[in-house]
Amino acid sequence: MSKLTVFDHPLIQHKLTIIRQKDTGTKVFREIVDEIASLMAYEVTRTLPVEDVEIETPVAKTVQKQLAGKKLAIVPILRAGLGMVDGMMKLIPAARIGHIGMYRDEETLEPVEYFVKLPEDIEQRDVFVVDPMLATGGSAIMAIDALKKRGATKIKLITLVAAPEGVEAVQAAHADVDIFTAGLDQGLNEHGYIIPGLGDAGDRLFGTH
Ligand code: URA
Repeated sequence: MSKLTVFDHPLIQHKLTIIRQKDTGTKVFREIVDEIASLMAYEVTRTLPVEDVEIETPVAKTVQKQLAGKKLAIVPILRAGLGMVDGMMKLIPAARIGHIGMYRDEETLEPVEYFVKLPEDIEQRDVFVVDPMLATGGSAIMAIDALKKRGATKIKLITLVAAPEGVEAVQAAHADVDIFTAGLDQGLNEHGYIIPGLGDAGDRLFGTH
């Protein structure tokens, strides 16, 4: 069974509370999603391997740590996932970016894949799939399917708000994919929205309705 991590860092919790509020406008919403994504990138990269490197300070030679050059990829699920890319890139600027286009059929609530473009060497990379909302889990499962079909094996799912239903569905479909979220909410309403959630993340990020 994959691991679920709910980030309880006070900064993440505080910022999540701001974007949940219905009166938070697009500009602030976007800025804070960006900030939370940076904080989450900091946490999810905690286990990256480091290696020794010999350097010279102005005072002495010394052996210190540097990242061992692990290849990373950030893969947003379009469109709301785009809102988390820049924030993550601030901390891991060498990561490659893939894109997976999914939209949710408003009637069936089922995800439909319409675009997949990934780094060529995706099978060598640690992949961070990003989507602000993990609702039914349908899009995330399909995105992870699409990645595995193209050779990716080391995948983590990073989301701002998750419903227990979505977490269970992803864990059932992809037991090897750890899930990271800033908030684990009560559940889904009859329209597939997370309760209390934050509404439609894509619309709030991009100012659409
Ligand atoms: N997608 C969203 O943007 N919000 C939800 O609450 C559920 C799915």
